[in-house]
Amino acid sequence: MARSKARMYTCSALMLLCVIVLFVCVSLLVRRICPKGSFSHAAVAADTWTCSQIGREMLQKGGSAVDGAIAALLCTSLMNPQSMGLGGGAIFTVMDSRGKVKIINSRERVPEMFSPDILKSCPNTFRFLPGGQWMGIPGEIRGYEQAHKLYGKLPWASLFQPSIQLARQGIPISQILGQYIPYSDSNDSRPLRELFSDKNGNLLQTGDIVKFETLANTLETIANLGADAFYTGKIAEDLIRDVQEAGGTLTMQDMASYKVTVSDAWNITLGEYQMYIPPPPAGGILLSLVLKIMEGYDLNPESLRREQKTLFYHRYVEALKFANGLKRHLRDPQFSLGELPKKLTEDSFANHIRSLITDDMSHQPQYYNMTSYLDSMGTTHVSVLAPDGSAVSVTSSINHIFGAKIFSPRTGVILNNQLSDFCGKVDSFYSGEQPPSSMSPAVLRSKSKMLVIGSTGGTMITTAMASAIMNHLWFGKSLKEAIAAPVVFVDSENAVKFEPDFDTHLIEELKARGHIQKTAKKFYNVVNAVEKEDGCICAVSDARKLGKAAGY
Ligand SMILES: *[C@@H]1O[C@H](CO)[C@@H](O)[C@H](O)[C@H]1NC(C)=O
Ligand SMILES: *[C@@H]1O[C@H](CO)[C@@H](O)[C@H](O)[C@H]1NC(C)=O
Ligand SMILES: *[C@@H]1O[C@H](CO)[C@@H](O)[C@H](O)[C@H]1NC(C)=O
Repeated sequence: MARSKARMYTCSALMLLCVIVLFVCVSLLVRRICPKGSFSHAAVAADTWTCSQIGREMLQKGGSAVDGAIAALLCTSLMNPQSMGLGGGAIFTVMDSRGKVKIINSRERVPEMFSPDILKSCPNTFRFLPGGQWMGIPGEIRGYEQAHKLYGKLPWASLFQPSIQLARQGIPISQILGQYIPYSDSNDSRPLRELFSDKNGNLLQTGDIVKFETLANTLETIANLGADAFYTGKIAEDLIRDVQEAGGTLTMQDMASYKVTVSDAWNITLGEYQMYIPPPPAGGILLSLVLKIMEGYDLNPESLRREQKTLFYHRYVEALKFANGLKRHLRDPQFSLGELPKKLTEDSFANHIRSLITDDMSHQPQYYNMTSYLDSMGTTHVSVLAPDGSAVSVTSSINHIFGAKIFSPRTGVILNNQLSDFCGKVDSFYSGEQPPSSMSPAVLRSKSKMLVIGSTGGTMITTAMASAIMNHLWFGKSLKEAIAAPVVFVDSENAVKFEPDFDTHLIEELKARGHIQKTAKKFYNVVNAVEKEDGCICAVSDARKLGKAAGY
């Protein structure tokens, strides 16, 4: 009796062991199915590998997605100082681990004093607009402060340490920064030129080392004393002194009164996905409109077959033209009335616009209510997914390459020229207003998948994101292929520009439908994204800016 009982116990124990071994094997196997190069805990996709790694380091230390994003942004202000920095602004879309999504908007605001005739000096076609008259009040650091207050886990100062060290020891100039350094050279921007010059006054080049010692001191002070040091303290005094010497109108009062806005994200239903976007003045509503128009055509991988492909791209270009005609509705809601922005995200509106699309031809600009505005470019984007499922999609900018081209020698900060984003879009604006933006840092979520995505490139943002999202979610391309696919961009005069490597046969067919082709000197679209599906995390930093994501 006792023996058979003992045998039964042994048997059960063996069976239990088998079950455990089987379970471990299966879970290992399932994990091994994750594609090569994917991660199982967390990832950061920034413009450069250095900054993706610094973001990852924060997550590995137990930081939140916001901690990782702030550290990666601070790093980017050194690695790609032509794109963003403390003198600019950012818009964060943050999903917490319970799935609730908030927007932290720290985009620049119009200062109290500004030139009333500034809109008259807007050019008709794109060019760089350096100079203090275009400068908005920087919001970047107030944005970090607010995001960290709401979601930070690591100490504030620890987010700054890797970048302070990097700024002091110097960074090798990347191919990307190297190609922009000559833009720092103009008569109005002597201090900026000096920042990127060697002892003999020659401009630095790719591979040379650039140090940011003054900026390192500024970062250290903010790390130790908090954001107030930048907005009300000695740094603010130094910054304002430099700005005023360079012809800018910012005052201490402007800095002290800067306020971040925190709001709920707007959520859009897109098939099985919820897409979370920031409300105006951000550009998410136009991204949403374009995607909703296209969703109505029941797209799938077959839609990219020969004749169907031409029809798809024709309709898509038409959708982008209507979106351009609606740009005027991107205004800071605190300074504009009207229900239209919300309406733009509704199915009925997308259905209406789709009904205006003619399948065999394009139309004159007035058909789309198109008035030409000013294209823009520049900017950076960071996407982060943390181990607890929280996520950050944040786009940050000083607007054009090197912003206003005003470098503050006392603080090491490069200032934005964000007010030029009003050009062609408004007849007047107000102190305190945030300029319209194309930024659309987004998070998309379905039952099985989460996609954290955003783009840079000024007015190319909508195109870049719509293209990557459609290619990935609807046409079945991998995230990497979806981002790498050449884009078609409709510019501020509704001319159509094709990225190199775009299907030439398709270009001819689109021209036959009446689209006007123009060549673009450069494509500034850069999409950085992280996704999680079935426990596997895939992170892609756009190869266009030679980026690389990091995860673990
Ligand atoms: C700077 O100004 C001088 C004299 O006005 C002019 O000859 C030169 O082309 C300018 N340089 C740049 C880089 O704008
Ligand atoms: C979407 O937004 C609406 C209104 O703000 C809210 O009631 C709803 O719960 C949100 N849905 C999701 C899935 O977040
Ligand atoms: C163009 O503007 C007119 C007048 O405001 C408006 O009735 C019409 O719906 C607009 N069309 C489009 C495509 O936005």
